[in-house]
Amino acid sequence: MSDLNKIVILGTGGTIAGVAGSADQTAGYRSGEISVAELAASVPGIEEAACISTEQICNIGSEDMTPEIWLSLSKRVNELLNSDEVDGIVVTHGTDTMEETAYFLNLTVKSSKPVVITGAMLPATAIGADGPLNLMNAVAAASSDKLAGMGVMCCMGQLLISARYVTKTNSFLCDAFNGRGAGIAGYVENRRVTLYQRPLRGCLSETPFDISGIGKLPSVEILYAYPGMDMRMAEYVLKSLRPSGMVIAGYGDGSMPEQLRELISRNSGGTVFVRASRTGDGIVIHNGEFNDDSFGSVASDNLNPQKARVLLMLALTVTDDPAEIRRMFRVF
Ligand code: SIN
Repeated sequence: MSDLNKIVILGTGGTIAGVAGSADQTAGYRSGEISVAELAASVPGIEEAACISTEQICNIGSEDMTPEIWLSLSKRVNELLNSDEVDGIVVTHGTDTMEETAYFLNLTVKSSKPVVITGAMLPATAIGADGPLNLMNAVAAASSDKLAGMGVMCCMGQLLISARYVTKTNSFLCDAFNGRGAGIAGYVENRRVTLYQRPLRGCLSETPFDISGIGKLPSVEILYAYPGMDMRMAEYVLKSLRPSGMVIAGYGDGSMPEQLRELISRNSGGTVFVRASRTGDGIVIHNGEFNDDSFGSVASDNLNPQKARVLLMLALTVTDDPAEIRRMFRVF
C-alpha cells in the first residue's frame, strides 16, 4: 500500500482549465474547458507527490461563480474531509474570484486537514502555462501536515497565501496574487513547504458558520463610492431589492458622500451596512471616519469589499445584530 497522502482535487474551471486557439494566445481564450482529470494527468510526476483522485464540481469561468456553488463546494469539501480516506483537498479555480471562494471555505470548512486553492493566469494550451506547476505545488502543500489547522491556503506559483488575505492585484501578469499588508504565509519549493506565519484570525471549526443545512445565503450587495454618484442607484438597491446586507466600497477609511450617509440613515428595511475601502489595502477603523456605534454600521477592518461581503453573508446566517457582527469582523 502507498504511504503517499490521499488528496482529492476538486475542479471548478478557470484559466487553469482554459483552452486558446494557439500556443501564444494568452487573452481571449475559453476558461473552464478541460476537465480536472485531464488537468491532473498533464502534470508530470504528480503521482509521486500524492495519491490523487479528481472530481469535477463545475467547469466555469470564475466570473460565473455563485454563492450556491460556494455552498455545494464547501459541503463536498466537508464531506470528503470527514472520511479517513482523504488527507487533504485541492480546489482548482478561476483566478478572478478565487479570493472570495477561498475565504468562504476558510470560514465554513470544519476540518483541520489541509485545503489549498489554486489556479493559473495562462490557459493550459499556452507556452509556459503556469497551471501545471501551480497544481503540483498545491498538491504538495495539501499533502503537508504543516498546513494542518492553518486555514485555507491559496497556492500560486511558489507562494502560499492565507485565504483571509489573498488578493488578486494584477489583471494579467502571472505574478498576480499577494497577501497585501499581511504578506505571505510561506513557500512551496521542490514539494517542500516552508511556513513563516500562522493566521491569527479565527477560521475552520473556530467559526460559528454551519452551512450544512443552508440552501441559500442572505443577499448582500456591494455599492462602490465615486464622486458624483447617482443616489437613485443606491435608493433602488435599498428600497426595491432590500438586501439583508450592503457593503459600501467607500473612500479611504470607509467614508462616503453625505447624501449616501443620509440615505443609509433613513434606511428602515433592516439592511446591515459594512463600511469597506476601495483603496485595496489598510484598515477601516471602527468609529474612525464614522461613529459606527451610533450610525449602526460595521467597519470592515482590513477585509476588502468583496471579502467583507463574504463575511457579512455568513454573519447574517447567525445574527443581524450589528454589535455581534462587529465582533465577528474583529475575530474572523
Ligand atoms: C477566471 O477567473 O475563470 C478567468 C481568469 C483566470 O482564471 O485567470
